[in-house]
Amino acid sequence: MKDEIVVWDEAFSVGYPAIDDEHKKLVAMVNELFQLDEQGNAVQKSIIAKTFQKAGEYAQTHFHHEEEILKKANYSNLATHKKEHESFMHEIWEEFNLFNKGSESAVGLARFLKKWLLNHIAVVDKHYAPYLVK
Ligand code: FEO
Repeated sequence: MKDEIVVWDEAFSVGYPAIDDEHKKLVAMVNELFQLDEQGNAVQKSIIAKTFQKAGEYAQTHFHHEEEILKKANYSNLATHKKEHESFMHEIWEEFNLFNKGSESAVGLARFLKKWLLNHIAVVDKHYAPYLVK
């Protein structure tokens, strides 16, 4: 899975260091899941679940923080952006339930997070960049 590890790229930057730092932390959490998967059966399911849960909780904290910043910046598309966050949180916990029921693998969780986060950070979040003043 080494080739699936996400390497932070300046192209992901929204130009606001506090938000970029949180995005980097989320990327690190996705990579942690890939690394756990790589270790195979030696890793207990509970450790993977805890790692994923931690990533989900951190995503929630990040979304709240980002929404506060965007509100102060009068971001005109905030309502839609918030809906994206809410729908992602819903999907996160659905994935978590699937994993706990044995219908999703560790790498499946990692790929799910990677796909959504990269699309969100590198595409959707970038739409608000012009509104932010550092
Ligand atoms: Fe950085 Fe919209 O989440």
